[in-house]
Amino acid sequence: MGCRIVLLGMPGAGKGTQADLLAQALGVPHVASGDLFREHLEKGTELGRLARSYIDRGDLVPDEVTIGMVAERLSRPDCASGFILDGFPRTVPQAEALDRLLRERGVALDAVAYIRVREEVALARLAGRWTCRQCGAVFHTLFNPPRQAGVCDICGGELYQRSDETEEAHRRRLKVYQEQTSPLIDYYRRAGLLVEIDGEQSIEDVQADLRAAVEVACGR
Ligand code: AP5
Ligand code: MG
Ligand code: ZN
Repeated sequence: MGCRIVLLGMPGAGKGTQADLLAQALGVPHVASGDLFREHLEKGTELGRLARSYIDRGDLVPDEVTIGMVAERLSRPDCASGFILDGFPRTVPQAEALDRLLRERGVALDAVAYIRVREEVALARLAGRWTCRQCGAVFHTLFNPPRQAGVCDICGGELYQRSDETEEAHRRRLKVYQEQTSPLIDYYRRAGLLVEIDGEQSIEDVQADLRAAVEVACGR
């Protein structure tokens, strides 16, 4: 039996951090639309070139492009028995596209975990973030420092600061979240899928709450 989870929350809520841990625990892939875009940026693909200007400003990449990219990832064999989606869906049309795609395959989401934090907490977290160029793992200079500065604990890759790690882009991302993504909280509440998680606890405590919620939803 599979386990299909969406993580919802504002930029800096800790979606990527929690998704990595949860994916390991459940043995399903962590599918992050932001990571997929950053792979395209690194490789310099056409999609990457198209996405760059949106990402650097903190705006959303257009739905058609994003939906196509994520749908392709979800169609790969490793997603057959489940996935943790992080950063997708982010608009109502994206959520509707995901519903259709899963329905066509005869499956459905098990839960949408909404990781709730205040904006000032999110901004403080974004300000000290470092990301692994190789595996996408995230660290924080104060809250989750790597054992060795500049080096990923997990794969030894180089840590860098994302091109959208500017104060201006952070504020823009939070505004875009309020306008375009926060309506999904109600969308999934109405669908009976929403579980709220207090995201202002330690990384370990957020993970414990998330794990408990997912065990109920996925029946394990
Ligand atoms: P994306 O990469 O998805 O960025 P985001 O949603 O803005 O979220 P972040 O990755 O910034 O935050 P997070 O919640 O993952 O937090 P993290 O775990 O890193 O998207 C980037 C861009 O791509 C978008 O702006 C858009 O342009 C485009 N894009 C992506 N998806 C799209 C879509 N579906 N449609 C259209 N465009 C799309 O944690 C943050 C920091 O806090 C880290 O340093 C971490 O170590 C630390 N931390 C985490 N948890 C805790 C804790 N409990 N206590 C203390 N510190 C913590
Ligand atoms: Mg992230
Ligand atoms: Zn790494």
